[in-house]
Amino acid sequence: MKFLIFGDIVGKTGRRAVAQLLPQLKRELAPDLVIANGENVAHGVGISMKTAQQLYDAGVEFLTTGNHVFDKQDQVDQVFAAHTGKIIRPANFEGTYPGDGWAALKAAGQTVVIANFNSQVFMEHQFQGLIASPFTAFDRVLQEAPKSAILLVDFHSEATSEKRGFGFYLDGRATVVWGTHTHIQTADAQILPGGTAYISDVGMTGAADSILGVKKEAALTRFLQGNGAKLDVDEGNEAEVGYIIVEVDDKTRKARSITARLERIKLK
Ligand SMILES: [Fe+2]
Ligand SMILES: [Fe+2]
Repeated sequence: MKFLIFGDIVGKTGRRAVAQLLPQLKRELAPDLVIANGENVAHGVGISMKTAQQLYDAGVEFLTTGNHVFDKQDQVDQVFAAHTGKIIRPANFEGTYPGDGWAALKAAGQTVVIANFNSQVFMEHQFQGLIASPFTAFDRVLQEAPKSAILLVDFHSEATSEKRGFGFYLDGRATVVWGTHTHIQTADAQILPGGTAYISDVGMTGAADSILGVKKEAALTRFLQGNGAKLDVDEGNEAEVGYIIVEVDDKTRKARSITARLERIKLK
């Protein structure tokens, strides 16, 4: 089986880039399932009915999320209700929130479980400290989820140490562990010793020449003059697109290969 997985899709530029590139990627790669992280899809923060629909219409079949998932508070219940089974949020958010932390589906006749976790390191201050350990949360999900499934895990995380630790903790138990959230693709796509495909961060799909998808001028002002400048998503016509392609052995449910790609495209 083959999985095509995008990192964080940022704003309108990100949505346009996915819509433009995905049809040709599907022709080239014939993936069995296309996954993307939608936490920044609505003007950089959160996910709305319109922007979720645009990603599904573009050919994305499943959405993971992260720390920005609830930023569009007025729509988040609706988004999760409308797309149950096709969108998840981190399983280790301990408060009362809409949505599930994992979902099971069928792809190419196989049971596939997709789970989402958020890191603790450098994010402890968010959600009033209600982010539980992703490590023990993974063990819980493994107990609850269907057995003998291909297990795909988006670890929405900041620190490479925690990302790497999580990868090794899941090695041999998950089929793929990919990092999201830092928006910069890392050069460490690899198969871990136990057969789990791993990358610390897939990288974003958003405006090229931006700072993580945000207009560089405003972000720079913050660095130069403090926190006053308002950050705004960059809606430029050139995009950076980060994704991974993972091939999985149907019988062993272990990864055969992982390839990371980072493209730069002009939007039509
Ligand atoms: Fe993000
Ligand atoms: Fe994030």
